[in-house]
Amino acid sequence: MCSVVFLDINGCHYKFPVVYGTFYEKAINISQLRENTGIMTFDPGLKNTGIAKSSISFIDGEKGELLYRGYPIEQIINKCSFIETSYLILNGELPNTAQLKCFSEKIKKFNHINKEIYQILDKVPDNYHPMGVLSFLTYVLTSFTNFIQEKDEDMYLHLLAKLPILASLIYRKKVGLPPSYADKNMDYTSNLLKMFFSKSNKSYQHNPIITDTLDKLLILHADHEQNCSTTTVRLLGSAHSGLFSSISAGISALWGKLHGGANQAVIEMLENIVISGGNIKKWIEKAKNKKDPFRLMGFGHRIYKNFDPRAKIAKKIAENLIQELRIVDPILELAKNLEEKALQDPYFVEKKLYPNIDFYSGIIYQAIGIPKDMFTVMFSLGRLPGWMAHWKEIKLNRDPIGRPRQIYIGYKKRNIIHK
Ligand code: CMC
Repeated sequence: MCSVVFLDINGCHYKFPVVYGTFYEKAINISQLRENTGIMTFDPGLKNTGIAKSSISFIDGEKGELLYRGYPIEQIINKCSFIETSYLILNGELPNTAQLKCFSEKIKKFNHINKEIYQILDKVPDNYHPMGVLSFLTYVLTSFTNFIQEKDEDMYLHLLAKLPILASLIYRKKVGLPPSYADKNMDYTSNLLKMFFSKSNKSYQHNPIITDTLDKLLILHADHEQNCSTTTVRLLGSAHSGLFSSISAGISALWGKLHGGANQAVIEMLENIVISGGNIKKWIEKAKNKKDPFRLMGFGHRIYKNFDPRAKIAKKIAENLIQELRIVDPILELAKNLEEKALQDPYFVEKKLYPNIDFYSGIIYQAIGIPKDMFTVMFSLGRLPGWMAHWKEIKLNRDPIGRPRQIYIGYKKRNIIHK
């Protein structure tokens, strides 16, 4: 393994250290590049830039593998709950029984929000998108919790407890239901479903298949290394912004249609395909047409050049749920058909475009009864432990403030001349 590389720049010979990861992925450390050579790198979209050393999750995009703290996603899905996974992601190791109990009990202790939040939400117009409202309310929470006196560890638990409450309130306001409060006797995901769907604050008839499915979907979303929203959270963390405002920014980033917002866009696309007569070939041609901005939503990924392992699991979960609930879902059949046709098409084969997590997650949410504009909110609830672990990591690593450079292509220096 070489520990340095040599670069020839304008006839001069420079030496740069090489940084290695656990699986021997390697990067040239160019932190001294501009200082030593007068030149910098240009990497729009940060496609080739490692911005951090991280030990939270690992993706092998060529093999289609995902690890959380070293554990393969396929094992976590079958052996852990979302709350155990959250502990693992935040703390680095799986909890023992006592640690898990303490973690869960503490979350339950913080299962409430200030009455002012209800009043603020009441004033938010119903036509605002739930993601905007979630981002805003997460930010507003900062004002109502005395974090100066709280330990960091407690702030993580506050958010794990409070974000589902905010999500449920946003949903219930939209559908005209009064708030349903947290039940301390329920586990995390059962409580989430109760807060969403109970008709009054009282009873809620749980369906274990739905609870298990939602728990698994939250796990699939829990972390995904340096994606757009996580990088957003890390950037805010690097400026020493607070946890809640950093997460609020992460929610806004996730909302984007090319990122988490794709789950809503996928279902809308599938519905449009049905409405327009179900001609899959026509839509695939549309996605391939470079003059048309349309893309096959739920397809492609910056890192995966093979199957997204999360999409494989989500597809199985979707099929199982639809079967168990005895739902006839033409959208699931259409999605499977579309996937099959796209994967046979040379355009998608050559560009290594496979279904990603968002291709099937919307179908699952819909079967559970969650409306389309709430899909990305559910993604946020799942991604929360990952965002927080990255925010924590940037503090522990004492990473410098994130501050990229640019290639300025605007006007040269000029003088104001009033006309
Ligand atoms: N449909 C048609 N063509 C596509 C698609 C698609 N879904 N995705 C990529 N391409 C083409 C793209 O046009 C480009 O072609 P060319 O080389 O001829 O210009 C090539 O594939 C490479 O695409 P790119 O945009 O340079 O790749 P990227 O790594 O910058 O973008 C992506 C990744 C996920 C933004 C992109 O694949 C995409 O827009 N997919 C649809 C939106 C989507 O499903 N997003 C969810 C991502 S997974 C969940 C998450 O983590 O947020």
